[in-house]
Amino acid sequence: MADDPSKQWNQHGPDYRKLIVKDGRESSAYLRDVGLKPMVVDLVGDCSTASVLDVGTGGGWLFDALVVGRAHACDLAPPERMLDHVDFRIADAHALPWGDDEMDIIVSNLMLCYSRDLKGPLAEMARVSRSGGRLVVSLVHPYFYRTGDVGRDGSMTIVRDLSRPSSFPINIGNKVGPFEYYYRPYTDYLNALLKTGWCLDEARDWFIDPEPYEQLYPQDTVIRTSKVPLFTFFSCTLA
Ligand SMILES: C[S@@+](CC[C@H](N)C(=O)[O-])C[C@H]1O[C@@H](n2cnc3c(N)ncnc32)[C@H](O)[C@@H]1O
Repeated sequence: MADDPSKQWNQHGPDYRKLIVKDGRESSAYLRDVGLKPMVVDLVGDCSTASVLDVGTGGGWLFDALVVGRAHACDLAPPERMLDHVDFRIADAHALPWGDDEMDIIVSNLMLCYSRDLKGPLAEMARVSRSGGRLVVSLVHPYFYRTGDVGRDGSMTIVRDLSRPSSFPINIGNKVGPFEYYYRPYTDYLNALLKTGWCLDEARDWFIDPEPYEQLYPQDTVIRTSKVPLFTFFSCTLA
């Protein structure tokens, strides 16, 4: 278990952000652009006059994709670049440096699956959200094949015990890391949202289509399958 998560993100964050540069070389950029970004943009909806906070923003791609009223972002580690209009702060999601009720919409992409604790960050997001404010969370799906082995024929064998939480080191894109990844049963996410005051409006999963992926990335060492979802999304409103 990582003692101080900021160490791993300060050390490997720059290489992670190179993985998601859109130059066609890295499959992580493709997965972000085809799977993650369109779903997040759709779930967030019109935010052109809203105060939007991106928690665990990484390189801040969200604000390339959205037109917002006011843009706020934080991360444990500083990015190489951030758009000028974004109010970026280095901060832990457990102690957000904004006041109560300040945000209309909060987004957190692929961050909670790297957080040892769920309720702390979700409660902080609830604190800085106005009543009736919205939260959009994306995750590497708990049943993604980090939990099992994919065969050449697309078959999937579960090798981990999915009934209880566990953590283990992973390399993102099989290249960058190690990062401590926190597996949790899907219901742990739902229960943590409910216990911190968030009402679930909608949940969506995203499954990859392996055919175009394999044509684009024939050298990829990860075998993709459409049998398990790759990302999952929660769209919530603060009660
Ligand atoms: C997998 S990256 C995702 C980055 C970005 N949201 C994206 O979609 O590309 C996870 C990010 O969460 C940040 N992070 C992890 N734990 C955090 C915490 N407790 N508080 C704030 N940021 C955190 C990391 O520094 C990293 O930038």
